[in-house]
Amino acid sequence: MLVLLSACAPESETGSSAAAEDDAVLPVPPEAARALPRPELHPGMPGLLNAAELEALAAAREDGLADIGHLPEFGFGETASPERIAAWDIDIGPDGEGLPPGSGSVERGETLYRLQCVQCHGARGEGSQFEALAGRVPGDRFPFAEDRRYRITVGSYWPYATTLFDYIRRAMPQAAPGSLPPDDVYALTAFILQLNGLLGSGDSLDAESLPRIRMPARDRFVRDDRRGGPEVR
Ligand code: HEC
Repeated sequence: MLVLLSACAPESETGSSAAAEDDAVLPVPPEAARALPRPELHPGMPGLLNAAELEALAAAREDGLADIGHLPEFGFGETASPERIAAWDIDIGPDGEGLPPGSGSVERGETLYRLQCVQCHGARGEGSQFEALAGRVPGDRFPFAEDRRYRITVGSYWPYATTLFDYIRRAMPQAAPGSLPPDDVYALTAFILQLNGLLGSGDSLDAESLPRIRMPARDRFVRDDRRGGPEVR
C-alpha cells in the first residue's frame, strides 16, 4: 500500500526531482570535448553523432574553442567517394537506362521465387500474406480510381517492365533488400512477367529485352508536363 501511494505522489514529495538534478548532464569541459573519440560511423549515414557527442560539440562551440576540427561540422560532411555514389545510384529509367549487364530465365526465376518470395506473395503471385504480383482486370478496363475492390498488380497497373527490376533489386526480399545480384533480379523479373502472361515459360531477359516489353497499362498514365512551382505540381 505504501509503495502504491508513493508511486502516485507528486515528484516533490518523493524526492525524485532532487535525484533528477544530480543526474543532470553538465556541459563537457573543452579538454574533455577535445579528447572525445571520433564517433563511430554508421556505414549508410556517415558522420552521425550520438546525443553525448552532439552535446560536447555544442559546449565546445559555446566556449569559443577554435580547435574543434577533430569533430565534423554539423556531424556529417565527408566527401562521397565515386564508389559510394555508385553504390546508391541504382535507379533504372523507364527506357532501361541504368540496367546492369546480366540475364535470367523464367525457369531460374521460378526456382528463386519458390525459395525467397513465395511465402509472402503466393505460389502464382496471387498474394497471400502480402501484395498480389499477378492478375489482370478482364477486358480493357482500368477501374482503380473508381472501384477499390480491384487489386493493383504488376500486370494490371505498372506501366513499365523496367520498374520491376528496379523495385525488386532495391526492395525485395523484404527482409534482405539489396541482396540479389543482377542475374537473380533478371530471373525474378522474368518469372513475374510470365505469371502475368507477358513472357513465355522458355523466355529470358537482359538489359536489351526487358525495356522492349510492353505493359498492358502502358498508355493509362500521362506525363505530368505542367509548368510552374510547387503550387502547380
Ligand atoms: C516477408 C515478406 C516478403 C517477401 C519474402 C517478399 N516480399 Fe515482396 N513485398 C512484400 C510487401 C509487404 C510488399 C509491399 C511493400 C510496400 O507496398 O511498401 C511487397 C511488394 C512487392 C512488389 C511490389 C508489388 C506492388 O504492386 O506494389 C514486388 C514486385 C515484390 N514484392 C516482389 C518480391 C520478390 C521478387 C520477392 C522475392 C525475391 C519478394 N517480393 C519477397 C513482402 C515480401
